[in-house]
Amino acid sequence: MTSALVDRFDVVVIGAGAAGMMCAATAGQRGRSVLLVEHYPKLGEKIRISGGGRCNFTNLHASPANYLSQNPDFCRSALARYSPRDFIALVERHGIAWHEKKLGQLFCDETAVDIISMLRNECERGRVRWRMPCAVEEIDHVDGVFRVATTQGPVVAAALVIATGGLTVPKIGATPFGYRIAEQFGLRIVAPQPALVPLALDPESLSRYGDLSGVSVDAGVTCKDGRFRENILFTHRGLSGPAVLQISSYWNGGDAIHIDLLPDLVAGAWLASQRTSATRMDTLLGQRLPKRLAQQWCAAHDAALPLQQLGDKRIAELAELLHDWAVWPSGTLGYNKAEVTLGGVDTRELSSKTMAATRVPGLYFIGEVVDVTGHLGGYNFQWAWASGHAAGEAV
Ligand code: FDA
Repeated sequence: MTSALVDRFDVVVIGAGAAGMMCAATAGQRGRSVLLVEHYPKLGEKIRISGGGRCNFTNLHASPANYLSQNPDFCRSALARYSPRDFIALVERHGIAWHEKKLGQLFCDETAVDIISMLRNECERGRVRWRMPCAVEEIDHVDGVFRVATTQGPVVAAALVIATGGLTVPKIGATPFGYRIAEQFGLRIVAPQPALVPLALDPESLSRYGDLSGVSVDAGVTCKDGRFRENILFTHRGLSGPAVLQISSYWNGGDAIHIDLLPDLVAGAWLASQRTSATRMDTLLGQRLPKRLAQQWCAAHDAALPLQQLGDKRIAELAELLHDWAVWPSGTLGYNKAEVTLGGVDTRELSSKTMAATRVPGLYFIGEVVDVTGHLGGYNFQWAWASGHAAGEAV
């Protein structure tokens, strides 16, 4: 790079998503000269499509317990220093109306585009410069300075922030760029995998339950340390709905997920009280579950008989199965349908206060590219804001 033609900044941020824009605005408003580089032609696409177009931008109850990571404490400091209240205050300063939908999940009243405009305005307040669409071709680190070759010419900066997100929804700009840069600098990566993603069922299970596509039921779902109580949704490819998306973050190939179809009931006592009844089990279950689900579930468990014919032992077994129906998914629907990527830059490589790589002075990783993954419900954006803010204060 010829130095006379090279633009110089204090900070270059690569990736103008949620974390990148928050970081750039924070650093710019502290008086740093900041360049934000984005390769996709549209700004904040993931924000735009989030929360069904209304962006579930935070969760009132965000705490480290809502995040998965090899180091569950890593997110604590950043979340404490930039809380949901801080983001709500920002949203309110911009006159964006919001509401709580359920479980502390906050959404825009109007449209997610309001959040994108807000972040762009905050960047303008910080005099952030943009290159977009602009691809990064090469990064070198020489004499403590980062040299970034882009399709719009080279830039140098003392601080380089990687905010390129995870691998979900590649058609709107996701790339493995952040992991490649981490590898280039010798930093460890926790293997990425799709999370908050629908689970697929094998053809045999689909021949039983595929017809239930569209049926939804309130259930408890567990897998390893994960335990959620929300709806599950049957689809033509398997299982989805909030409880299944949540549990997918805990699921690895080969595991069973355990479904409690009657979480508010002691099924053993209820069924025992009906044990002499001539009513068929599927009819009875149809009083508590969607009828088609009751029928298919009973057919699959050879239980579509009058209760008096089933006998006490079988009734007790079925009651147990209703509370602990083990289902073995055959896979996930992958990065095209996932909301987030589990894994990423290993938090052992980063300072939890600043997001700086401890072994590479001036290099920062923020947002989803880091091995911190939130539950469904606004937690992932809160991590993007909090980690972006932490780095923006430090660069
Ligand atoms: P993000 O992916 O937002 O941004 C990364 C940016 O880097 C992108 O603009 C990308 O184009 C750019 N980039 C990638 N490679 C690059 C390269 N090589 N060069 C330059 N730029 C590059 N979360 C939540 O809390 N509430 C919600 O309602 C939802 N809803 C939701 C719906 C759907 C359909 C999805 C897919 C995801 C969600 N999420 C969510 C998750 C949330 O969108 C996600 O966790 C954050 O956007 C992560 O923010 P980041 O800034 O880290 O990455």
